[in-house]
Amino acid sequence: MDVDTAIRTRRSHKLFDGTAVPTAMLADLVELATWAPNHKRTEPWRFSVLTADRVGLLPERIDAALADGTLPAHKATKLRQVVAGLGAAIAVSWVRTPADPERDREDYAAACCAVQNLMLAAHARGIASYWTTSGAFVGAHLRDFWQLAPNEEFVGAVLLGGAAIEMPAVRTRGVADVARWI
Ligand SMILES: Cc1cc2nc3c(=O)[nH]c(=O)nc-3n(C[C@H](O)[C@H](O)[C@H](O)COP(=O)(O)O)c2cc1C
Repeated sequence: MDVDTAIRTRRSHKLFDGTAVPTAMLADLVELATWAPNHKRTEPWRFSVLTADRVGLLPERIDAALADGTLPAHKATKLRQVVAGLGAAIAVSWVRTPADPERDREDYAAACCAVQNLMLAAHARGIASYWTTSGAFVGAHLRDFWQLAPNEEFVGAVLLGGAAIEMPAVRTRGVADVARWI
């Protein structure tokens, strides 16, 4: 798949069909993510990889959070549907530098670029994904689960798997709406 096609046809898929994402492919996705631009070569991204054989741990944690009230009960049905067919998940974080807000901001931006690399590379391999910042997946109560170091913060979790449904492509703004030509 060429880059233009990958960019245009990648969609956020929020229902998965149970297809396991091979561990070797997850390693490739992480490696490709690390080719994202980053200012001053800080390489601020970190990846917590939940392989296909361990993906059942995430629904367990979500069930526990629903049971103890950390997550509101009205979200239960949707969350259980989302995690039911997961093929893998990767939480992406970045190493914080609170004492240097400009660097911290740029490092967050670089980690976001890494997420997009990861999702495009997954798409090119026929694997669906979506980026979530929901507390259900990257709440503070899940820092230990994802093994975050104390100086890291979540950028989000990328949920991965086979697409269970097609998602519509929605963009309401064209080039003329978003670009100024100087
Ligand atoms: C930073 C970021 C955070 C997101 N967090 C969530 C989320 O928590 N829950 C969710 O359902 N979708 C989340 N999304 C996905 C978007 O809401 C949306 O579904 C998606 O961008 C749709 O467009 P696409 O198919 O072109 O990706 C997030 C996207 C981004 C970029």
